[in-house]
Amino acid sequence: MSSISKSVLSRTSAKVDKELRASHAGETGAVWIYRGALTAEFLVSLVSFSRSPHKNNKALSVKAFASEHLQTEKTHLSIFENEMPTFRGSYMLLLWMIAGFLTGFIPRILGHNWFFYTIYCVEYFVDQHYEAQCCLLENVDPLPSEVLRKFRQCQQDEQSHRDEAYQAMTSTPSFTMKLWGKIVGKGSAAAVAVAKLI
Ligand SMILES: [Fe+2]
Ligand SMILES: [Fe+2]
Repeated sequence: MSSISKSVLSRTSAKVDKELRASHAGETGAVWIYRGALTAEFLVSLVSFSRSPHKNNKALSVKAFASEHLQTEKTHLSIFENEMPTFRGSYMLLLWMIAGFLTGFIPRILGHNWFFYTIYCVEYFVDQHYEAQCCLLENVDPLPSEVLRKFRQCQQDEQSHRDEAYQAMTSTPSFTMKLWGKIVGKGSAAAVAVAKLI
């Protein structure tokens, strides 16, 4: 192989490596979002049970939603860890775990609609990010087999999560919730930019 084609290949690999690292960091964060939400759900259920044992219907639906989504996010994480070409993981995984945990924990403490709206905002961002990545990967040659198909597979699940979260809301988001949603979106974009590098 000539030195020119070797350097083209390494640039291509670097491009794929960055995208795999960013999405692996994102899926790690996603797992921890639901762990944070389930932790908050448990704490809230302890308080609401002691106040009124009949007020747990909605809390159960958050628990079911978060538990089901947690399983899907674990599957996504496993795809990146076991089924993708080898890549360098982010050096900041601990930070993505903590950020994810708080992104699930804080809104769940604030209420059901806060939680569902946050998930809607996160998944809205993730869907757009996967779309941008897929457009980029479509032009990578040679692209390791199956990479694009697996990105699309994860994207479809995120779209369902986004729509389920939106449908689970029982009222329109307040001004403060929208402000929080914008912070979550900007924070996610910043996290992707950092994870691509570090
Ligand atoms: Fe995911
Ligand atoms: Fe998701």
